[in-house]
Amino acid sequence: MVQNKNVVLGITGGIAAYKACDIVSDLKKLNANVDVIMTKAATEFITPLTLQSISQNKVAVDMFQTLGNWEIGHISLAKKADLLVIAPATADIIGKLANGIADDLLSTTVMATKAPVLIAPAMNSNMYTNSIVQANIEKLKNNGFWFITPEIGRLACGDIGEGKLASVETIVNQITKLLTRAKDFSGRKILITAGPTQEAIDPVRFISNRSSGKMGYALAEAAVERGADVTLISGPVALTRPNGLDSFIPVESAIEMRQAVMDCFQEMEIIIMTAAVGDFKPKRKSAEKIKKNDSGLTIELEKTPDILAELGKLKGDRILVGFAAETQNLLEYAGEKLVQKNLDFIVANDLTQEGAGFGVSTNIVKIIDCSGNVEEFPLMSKLELGKIILDRIKGLLI
Ligand code: CTP
Repeated sequence: MVQNKNVVLGITGGIAAYKACDIVSDLKKLNANVDVIMTKAATEFITPLTLQSISQNKVAVDMFQTLGNWEIGHISLAKKADLLVIAPATADIIGKLANGIADDLLSTTVMATKAPVLIAPAMNSNMYTNSIVQANIEKLKNNGFWFITPEIGRLACGDIGEGKLASVETIVNQITKLLTRAKDFSGRKILITAGPTQEAIDPVRFISNRSSGKMGYALAEAAVERGADVTLISGPVALTRPNGLDSFIPVESAIEMRQAVMDCFQEMEIIIMTAAVGDFKPKRKSAEKIKKNDSGLTIELEKTPDILAELGKLKGDRILVGFAAETQNLLEYAGEKLVQKNLDFIVANDLTQEGAGFGVSTNIVKIIDCSGNVEEFPLMSKLELGKIILDRIKGLLI
């Protein structure tokens, strides 16, 4: 899945530059975000406007042009990239990179990035087979750069030989492979609970809460992306089920959620309870719809099982993560839950802050671990937070 991945595509000045349009277009169809950097020479072959229209992002050409209010072009794109691709790549850019020359936006961005770099050369076959170009390619390969070998075919100059840009399909396939390769949770079994529970009053009414399930679904998506075998147990939500789950178990009530969790927790290595499990349920569910009368209605409630506390007792060497949503005394209350439920860490959010908690796609949290360390995070998307939670879990895995 390359969805929401950031590809920075560098286009250099060769006749094959027009094929970059198809690369961008295919990546957009896969829902990747594409930022294009063009060298000055590339703009002689196609216009930045074309690439801007297809990528739906501003195209960077000038080293000294700012992309946003404060961003420094080559640094911000270098940091943003999940993958940096140069297609087509001329002998010139290959030579620069192999020799540490950083004199335009593309070469400086490549030099500044920690992301993998994929290079698809395209040039005249005599240039491509030139021993200096070949030595440069070798040097870059030995420094972790990825290459896509050009094809043999009819070149723009009329020659037939090696140097034709690999097909768009080959390039996009290689991009997809590289982007989906980081599988640091490969084979890890993760159980995630999400959403609210619904506690029935009668056949048509229930008690529930404002949880949208977004945090749990985002976590599940992030975990699948990193290769985990994810079981998602979800209360009733209006979200699309993430792709690639090992198992999806829909439930309604806290009792059903507990049963689903207990049925599978033995085989799990990591359990993350994002669900907003109802703490109380009506003592009796009326078999018939309750009719209104003038004397009001009293519903007697009883406690639901605390699933996480139960897991805390059975934990063994599993990693157990809980959530706490509070409106006051955030650290104190969340810290108590961490201890009472025997968690490895707890993700605490202050519901009084705008952009945090239920319903929204963002969150503002503090992570408290069992040694009492508190890490504070700024406003971020739930997907970003999901990645951070997985990073913290990774630190605990043996
Ligand atoms: N949880 C659970 N079973 C419950 C209630 C909560 O497993 N019956 C889990 C939630 O999934 C969450 C954590 O426990 O990970 C929240 O702790 P909890 O003490 O239940 O928080 P609140 O419900 O907010 O409790 P309180 O109303 O006391 O603040």
